[in-house]
Amino acid sequence: MARYKRHILICENVRDEDHPRGSCGRKCAEDIRIAFKTALKNRGMTTTYRANKSGCLDACEHGPVVVVYPDGVWYGGVTAADVDEIIEEHVIGGKPVTRLLIDDRRFQQEFE
Ligand code: FES
Repeated sequence: MARYKRHILICENVRDEDHPRGSCGRKCAEDIRIAFKTALKNRGMTTTYRANKSGCLDACEHGPVVVVYPDGVWYGGVTAADVDEIIEEHVIGGKPVTRLLIDDRRFQQEFE
């Protein structure tokens, strides 16, 4: 049995400000991670769900990037204001928030 029902990874990689690829860490990714951790804690979900910062997930142009496993769902352009919706609709409800999905088939798989 899996350790967590869902594991949320938030890219917090930081590159130089003038780096051509940009970086999620310069787009308030830390705020997003804190919002996820707070949301899970407030709902008493921390033993079965986990949010962690990650290094670069190689989707920098879509940042800030959040990935939810085991679903393999990739979100882009996420803000802290989106966190409650992701928790309610996807993490609890099981349905990805389609408006935040990265619009690139390489990052998505069929979700059932
Ligand atoms: S810096 Fe976040 S995906 Fe690369």
